Amino acid sequence: MKFFVDTAEVADIRSLVELGMVDGVTTNPSLIAKSGRNMAEVIAEICAITPGPVSAEVTATEYEGMLAEGRFLRQIAANVCVKVPLTEAGLRTCKTLSSEGTQVNVTLCFSAGQAILAAKAGATFISPFVGRLDDIGQDGLELIAEIVEIYANYPDFTTEVLVASIRHPIHLIQSAKLGAHVATLPPAVIRQLLKHPLTDRGLEAFLADWKKTGQSIL
Ligand code: G3P
Repeated sequence: MKFFVDTAEVADIRSLVELGMVDGVTTNPSLIAKSGRNMAEVIAEICAITPGPVSAEVTATEYEGMLAEGRFLRQIAANVCVKVPLTEAGLRTCKTLSSEGTQVNVTLCFSAGQAILAAKAGATFISPFVGRLDDIGQDGLELIAEIVEIYANYPDFTTEVLVASIRHPIHLIQSAKLGAHVATLPPAVIRQLLKHPLTDRGLEAFLADWKKTGQSIL
């Protein structure tokens, strides 16, 4: 399973790259706004330290505008993946950009039907938002199960399921059980996955016992 990091904070990305937890990065207009940085500058910086795709989202809503923005964003770095919303204009932009060899992430997916359309339009990634479905009382993980099952029926669908809007470790673990290709994780969720109170308590006990021996390894 590939891990993308869902942030535009360069320091967070850098430290997670050092941990081996970063196969790619996803950003969106809200995350860019939160970073307080210029979009082109921060995307260039993220691309330079990230081994895989870095999603940069268009903000135009019409086809021509989306296409122009997508073509601008992709020239920032070879690993830019243009992110478009799941609208008619977004799918048309996806089809054009993917036929030009650009990676495209189709975002704001909330139904299996939308995911089928994105695959037909040549999306590299489809981003279903699990947390936001949970927020309105629908089972976000059920949507992941549906899309994974449907895509597996059609080997000519090369679109990867990129689970987005992950809010806690269970979203990630269940998505992995379902065989989702990619999860995009807020840095805080990666840290939650790392921590376990029994690990902390066990280490404390080992170190206390070791101290009693009076030894040092080096
Ligand atoms: O990648 C999309 C993600 O950032 C949305 O997450 O928590 O704002 O629903 P959230």
